[in-house]
Amino acid sequence: QSLQPFVMVLFGANGDLAKRKLFPALFSLHKNRLLHENFAVVGLGRSPKDDARFREAVRESVEKYARTSVDETDWEGFLPHFSYRSVDINNPEDFRPLKEHVESLEKKHSISGNRLFYLAIAPDLFGNVSTHLKASGLTDTAGWKRLVIEKPFGHDHESAQRLNNQIRQTFQEEEIYRIDHYLGKEMVQNIEVIRFANSLFEPLWNNRYIDNVQITASETVGVEERAGYYDHAGALQDMVQNHMLQMVMMVAMEPPSRLKPEAIHDEKVKVLRSLRRIKEEEVDQYVVRGQYHAGTVDGKPVVSYRQEEGVSSDSQTETFVAAKMYIDNFRWSGVPFFVRTGKRMAQKATEIVIQFKEMPKNLYFNREGDLGPNLLVISVNPTEGLSLRINAKKPGSDNDVVPIALDFCNNCGVDSPEAYERLLQDAIEGDLTFFTRWDEVSLAWKYVDPIRNAWDQTERSIPLYKAGSWGPKEADRLLAQENKSWWPVS
Ligand code: BG6
Repeated sequence: QSLQPFVMVLFGANGDLAKRKLFPALFSLHKNRLLHENFAVVGLGRSPKDDARFREAVRESVEKYARTSVDETDWEGFLPHFSYRSVDINNPEDFRPLKEHVESLEKKHSISGNRLFYLAIAPDLFGNVSTHLKASGLTDTAGWKRLVIEKPFGHDHESAQRLNNQIRQTFQEEEIYRIDHYLGKEMVQNIEVIRFANSLFEPLWNNRYIDNVQITASETVGVEERAGYYDHAGALQDMVQNHMLQMVMMVAMEPPSRLKPEAIHDEKVKVLRSLRRIKEEEVDQYVVRGQYHAGTVDGKPVVSYRQEEGVSSDSQTETFVAAKMYIDNFRWSGVPFFVRTGKRMAQKATEIVIQFKEMPKNLYFNREGDLGPNLLVISVNPTEGLSLRINAKKPGSDNDVVPIALDFCNNCGVDSPEAYERLLQDAIEGDLTFFTRWDEVSLAWKYVDPIRNAWDQTERSIPLYKAGSWGPKEADRLLAQENKSWWPVS
């Protein structure tokens, strides 16, 4: 694989994402020789700082958060690639000296103009930054230019469209790398391979053999220090519009014609086109929301959402969403996809359960009652793995049938790369596969917007659930209506 020299222009270099994820990811990539030797990172922030202090901050964040072991000898080949400039993002004048700095770095490190602009900043600044990048000439370069942009991409369809129009003045669609970090997770990337590289699954992967699909992303943390953002966003915007729908797409898409980003995105978009839109008046039939109140998580008492710092005392923001989705196409017609996500739940887990249809029960049965269905469980986080539940004869019995599990662990004894390592490397190497294309983002907003509107207009107050539970009881009813129930997370 040929690596590409590049300059990374990092907006938000003093922020949390840079510290926790981006510097450690760059370090691991560098240490594993997955970065070209000719690279430079210019960190940008409001506060003034010299290069030495910035390098010190990079070093501290790597020591604290990197998954790769750190040796004293690692620094001399790594830190000199970093420099810092203070900019006021809203002042176009500040972008001119930045351009000169980037050009001098390119000269110094023999980089032929490849520029990666990474926006790890508040989303309301995305549009202006991209406008100023163009006006300053920073995007006129002999090499490639790319924009890496974090979520949220807008707060509804209209604002997302506006933002997209603005950044498209500077960058072409194929130069825009919209991050959904779930797509950087090993097991999310693996869904495609498990499905399409196994004759064992692909023939059964449809409404003739699959009864329902359940996708859970539960967290034990609360709102943390992010109330300013979260209390406006809620779980629908924070998790469903992006991560949950991305997982639905990966499970439901048709095989791509080629393993090329365009071909894969085309198939993913088709899923969203077939995803049944929920009308505002139907929202209660399909979607459940909830908000945590005081309870116990991991053995410790925690406060209600409304008592968290920065949250208003009568907040109606949802910290939990469960939805029943239907993909009205040939493959999936009639198969419900149940998704749920929430904060302050009983366990941190991201898991996908494919429940297969039951066999006729005339011959084999379990003494206690029903023969359980076959399940394929894809564990995304924190355990990464696969588990296939099948029925077999209990050893020594006549015909007593018991479920057994065929288990594979993907991260036992091996250290999987962090999502951000994967994604950063892909952005540098120009692979768009695991980023989101505009039409995906747009259709995802069109799905969630009516839900948001219905909730904003209702006079009923939000159902509460106890912190440390599996969400409000309404979420169980959503499945009970279909004679189904949530599988316990493994
Ligand atoms: C982020 C959300 O996108 O994903 C957070 O903004 C959430 O609220 C996080 O906590 C969950 O990610 P992960 O990788 O821990 O499942």
